[in-house]
Amino acid sequence: MAKYIINAENRKSKINRELYGHFSEHLGRCIYEGLYVGEDSDIPNTNGMRNDVVEALREIRVPVLRWPGGCFADEYHWREGIGPKSERKRMVNTNWGGVVEDNSFGTHEFFELCRQIGCKTYINGNVGSGTVQEMSEWIEYMTFDGESPLALERAKNGHPEPFKVDYFGIGNENWGCGGNMTPEYYANLYRRYQSFVKQYKRVPDHPEIVTDEMIHRIACGANVDDYEWTEEVLRTLFRHCEDKFHGHLEGLSLHYYTHPEGWQIKGSATDFDAKTWYKTLAKTLYIEELIRRHGAIMDQYDPEKKIGMIVDEWGTWFTVEPGTNPGFLYQQNTMRDALVAGINLNIFNKHSDRVKMANIAQMVNVLQSVVLTDGPQMLKTPTWHIFNMYKHHQDATLVDSFLETETIGEEEEYLVPNLTESASIDGEGRLQITVTNLSLTESYPVDARITGFAGEKVSAEILCEEMHALNTFENPDAVHTKAFDGVEKVHGGLKFTIPACSVLHITVE
Ligand code: AHR
Repeated sequence: MAKYIINAENRKSKINRELYGHFSEHLGRCIYEGLYVGEDSDIPNTNGMRNDVVEALREIRVPVLRWPGGCFADEYHWREGIGPKSERKRMVNTNWGGVVEDNSFGTHEFFELCRQIGCKTYINGNVGSGTVQEMSEWIEYMTFDGESPLALERAKNGHPEPFKVDYFGIGNENWGCGGNMTPEYYANLYRRYQSFVKQYKRVPDHPEIVTDEMIHRIACGANVDDYEWTEEVLRTLFRHCEDKFHGHLEGLSLHYYTHPEGWQIKGSATDFDAKTWYKTLAKTLYIEELIRRHGAIMDQYDPEKKIGMIVDEWGTWFTVEPGTNPGFLYQQNTMRDALVAGINLNIFNKHSDRVKMANIAQMVNVLQSVVLTDGPQMLKTPTWHIFNMYKHHQDATLVDSFLETETIGEEEEYLVPNLTESASIDGEGRLQITVTNLSLTESYPVDARITGFAGEKVSAEILCEEMHALNTFENPDAVHTKAFDGVEKVHGGLKFTIPACSVLHITVE
């Protein structure tokens, strides 16, 4: 029987709800068709946004949405996406399939989408091919609350009130598609660009005070294990920087995708064997080492952890669904994706002292989506169900916990722990526990000893199917969460047996 210790007396970091964030890029059918169909569409919509998709996203309490890219961000020119739609300039989306982008979804539409979803906004600016002036004017256009030519233009375009930009990314993957820069070069550009991301809501004369009203600036961080990037960017940002400006940033990003067969081959989303299952999960777990090691570098510059690690692209990246446009990155989603999501989210919870936001890539119809659409049809993927179960951790307080594990797997190189977990106390004082069972064959009895928490009432839900199980447009509800009555409340804790290939969510109140 696996021993599970939950010490609810030892309250740790707040699990920012932004850890459950999402990412939507002008890529394939994510924005167009997936989220936005236009006011004249036969698909039921509100101001052009699909009602079915917005409802599914509200249900999982999407806390923040990143837009417009990704690689697209560094070739996006915001002026092309405002004003009358018939007059908007068309452009070629060079990163994603070379398709023509008509810019009918732009700044105003993004804020309307976030308003409908009820989430915070994270806009990614263009450093790679945009000017400082262009970025500075976008900020003024969106956020200036007064009389200025750009604020008046915003009003003329239908929005007299300023928009609320919660997070602003200064470039994306500038070590790659965002300009192929060296870390020193990027960091010097960052210093310059961020100077013109004007903080109209800053507490006068107090740059050290960061409030929710302000724009949180996010610098482009590393790809995977590029520790040199993290080190060099931070060194340059903190050089000749007055203490009160603290490197001029509130967040530093990290990108890590799970590719079972490596970046070039990737591997099928639906056709895989047990070896590939464990390999995928082993590669997913690697993110913990990345968080620790990039975090250790951040600690040197920011020991008080004021700067958030922002994992703004994570998830599975498989070979595209056969017969679909290779530039559109459309893939199906199985129980394997559910486990990948559950494992990642448990890791983010455990590191919530440093990880302040994470954005799964991507929200709809691209990579590890929570929702897939086909014309008027929509389905919730197994990954959606994980976000629905884990949403109870949002803004909760992580508590100390430890679960005894065994090492399992089929190949020496890709061994994994059989179980992962995290536990928190939510705003209503309930204990929220999420556990993943990575084994394809074994169920495990667990003896949970809980201290410092007096709740008696237990409820639980589970996602548990065979590894290839998925939802299709013909059978959209094949994989769904079910009530689980196998958790027994015993003196001082809980006893349960977690079935093979499953993700379990327990609430004690
Ligand atoms: O999410 C797809 C792409 O992956 C993004 O555009 C880019 O930032 C990353 O390489």
